[in-house]
Amino acid sequence: MIASAKTPNTLVSAPVGIFDSGVGGLTVAHEIMRLLPHESVIYFADTKNVPYGNKGNSEVAALTNQATQWLAAQGCKCVVVACNTASAHSLTSLRELYSALPIIGLVPAVKPACQLTRSKVIGVLATEGTLRGALLQEVIAQFAQPAGISVHTITHAQLVPLIEAGQAMSAQCAVLLTSLLDPYVARQMDCLVLGCTHYPLLRPLLAKLYPQLQLLDSGHAIAQRTQAVLAERNLLNNQAMPTLTLHCTGNVASFKQSLKAIPPLPGKLVDLEQHVKATP
Ligand code: DGL
Repeated sequence: MIASAKTPNTLVSAPVGIFDSGVGGLTVAHEIMRLLPHESVIYFADTKNVPYGNKGNSEVAALTNQATQWLAAQGCKCVVVACNTASAHSLTSLRELYSALPIIGLVPAVKPACQLTRSKVIGVLATEGTLRGALLQEVIAQFAQPAGISVHTITHAQLVPLIEAGQAMSAQCAVLLTSLLDPYVARQMDCLVLGCTHYPLLRPLLAKLYPQLQLLDSGHAIAQRTQAVLAERNLLNNQAMPTLTLHCTGNVASFKQSLKAIPPLPGKLVDLEQHVKATP
């Protein structure tokens, strides 16, 4: 259903729903709130089930469906699946199930990496689940293969748990990243796609370890896509005082702890912890 110029005010002022397994999707929320400062946001973190990356395709799809159902029940005017793993295994079925609700998903930023690389060697750092998905294979076939660009896919199951534990800048994380990336840097990799929404939180550490590497993520592109989708449906909210609520399915105190490591979101709503609620 595409709303007309008569779109009811209640729908225009409804929140944008954003979903991830944990704190990673806040990197996308950050970009959305920067580009669309008048939109209210409900953020849903499925922390009881994080990490998604090493779960099976159908389990990820079922969890993503539950999260979307919950956000739809809160009256969200669109849902942003701010998780590459969830996007890889659920976008088609979500769009069928929620045909009236715009669903915005993520794909790793392979296209801009292919435009930037000089060495024609790029890396995609993502979860096992994302690497297995068809979306990544499609963008590699579309943008890398015709240009003769080699794509190295790189994964490690401990990265997301370390970031959730607030360890994105730790020595342990540095050792893990160098053991993962050194072999590809030695093979002239000059662009690294951060193909998991948790990984932009590794940017400061990666920039210190590999100042020569170009780091790419999809956050800004998804914010632009959200803006376009809302504009098409006359759902952009230009007036209201925006609100932000963060919901988690797991332990609230540990989620608040993970949030301490997240850079402040734009606007007045900088203290994330104040906005946390458990999901009923
Ligand atoms: N942030 C997610 C992603 O983009 C999920 C990571 C996880 O839960 O393993 O893939």
